[in-house]
Amino acid sequence: MSLKIKSSIVRKYLMALSGLFLVIFLLQHFTINLTSVFSKEMFNFLSHFMGNNPLVQFVLQPVLIFGVVFHFIMGFILEFKNRSSRNQKYYNFKGKANSSWISRNMILSGIVILSFLGLHFYDFWIPEMQYKYIEFLPENPDRYFDELVHKFESLPRVIIYNISFIFLSLHLLHGFSSSFQTIGFNNKYTISLKFFTISFSIIIPLGFILIALFHYLN
Ligand code: HEM
Repeated sequence: MSLKIKSSIVRKYLMALSGLFLVIFLLQHFTINLTSVFSKEMFNFLSHFMGNNPLVQFVLQPVLIFGVVFHFIMGFILEFKNRSSRNQKYYNFKGKANSSWISRNMILSGIVILSFLGLHFYDFWIPEMQYKYIEFLPENPDRYFDELVHKFESLPRVIIYNISFIFLSLHLLHGFSSSFQTIGFNNKYTISLKFFTISFSIIIPLGFILIALFHYLN
């Protein structure tokens, strides 16, 4: 196998693994955010724990940020390589005939999610870093819920968030199941796994939409 093909397989494999890692984060993030709909106390407790536990702050959080950056950079590299090899070699590439709109536009949905993350970090992550590590304000374990609710008072923000969640769903609809194919998961559970990944890709972003709407309307 040529070095070029080998490194292309490695890149795809790493893309799949980093994507799966981000899916696990998404589920964890969704679960904590969901508690904000049912119990202010529970949400404050979990956010305070996540925001002040040294393992989460100084090990898991940097790993997560690395995972996000890695996934996006790798995504751009793969897209660039695919485009150039398509132009050079695959004369029989038929675009629409061979693949779905979603799979051909992963870079587009990825860019929307990346832009959303820019806004989302500006909304939550940067103020949090400023609060704890720049201004060294005294910790108030009851502040998290009110900070969250305050952000969702703005209709334009809720609209931008919800449009991004639709793109997140599209991105996952192709990416989540295809990552299992890439890592070679192919056995009698493949059909059930496909069903699971499709359900996840619809239910989780829809849940995020409902959480945002819930806080806007309350
Ligand atoms: C209604 C939906 C969402 C709400 C209410 C929400 C809320 C939050 C909050 C409160 C934080 C700050 C955590 C902290 O550092 O204290 C945060 C951080 C973050 N959110 Fe979200 N989020 C939502 C959707 C999403 C989605 C869809 C993604 C990914 C595509 C995402 C990715 C992140 C990331 C990467 C961080 C930084 C994590 C960290 O601080 O360790 N969020 N979010």
